[in-house]
Amino acid sequence: MKREITLKINGREETITVEDADTLLEVLRDRFRLWSVRESCGVGACGTCTVLLDGRPVSSCFLLAVRAAGRNITTLEGLSDGQSLHVIQQAFVSQRALQCAYCTPGFVLAVKALLDEIPNPSDEQIREYLSGNLCRCAGYADILRAARLAQERQISKETAMPRK
Ligand code: FES
Ligand code: FES
Repeated sequence: MKREITLKINGREETITVEDADTLLEVLRDRFRLWSVRESCGVGACGTCTVLLDGRPVSSCFLLAVRAAGRNITTLEGLSDGQSLHVIQQAFVSQRALQCAYCTPGFVLAVKALLDEIPNPSDEQIREYLSGNLCRCAGYADILRAARLAQERQISKETAMPRK
C-alpha cells in the first residue's frame, strides 16, 4: 500500500509517497540520493547503513520508512556544514581510520551518537557502543583512536567557547 509521509532529513522536511515495504535505506538512497547511506548485509547486522533517528543510531536497512515518519533523520551529509569536515570526520582522517571507507559513514554517525550521549566515555564504553558496526578492513584500533581524538577535540572546542 502507498502512503504519504513526512520525513525530517538533515533538518529539512520532505513529504513523499512510499510503499509500506520501503526501507528507510531505500528511500534515503533512491529518492534523496544520500549516497553515504550504504547497504552491506541488508539484515541489520553490520551497521554500514547506520543513520541517526532522533539522535540514536539505527540500521536503515532494517527500518521501514513509514516508521521514521515525523522523526529527525541525520545522515553523514547532515554532519558537516558543507565547507569543512565535522570534527569526528577530521579525527577519522587524521588517524587514518578508514581504508576502503565503505563502513566509515556508519562509524562516524555511531561516534556522533556516542559522544552526544556520553561526552566522556571510557575505552570500554566506546568499544561497546561501536560493537554493532563492522569494518571488513579491520581498522578497529584506528577507529577507536579516532573516536577518542574526536572526543578530546570536541571537549576542547566546547571549553574554548566564550561564556554568555
Ligand atoms: S546493511 Fe544495514 S545493518 Fe548491514
Ligand atoms: S574501512 Fe573498509 S570496511 Fe571499514
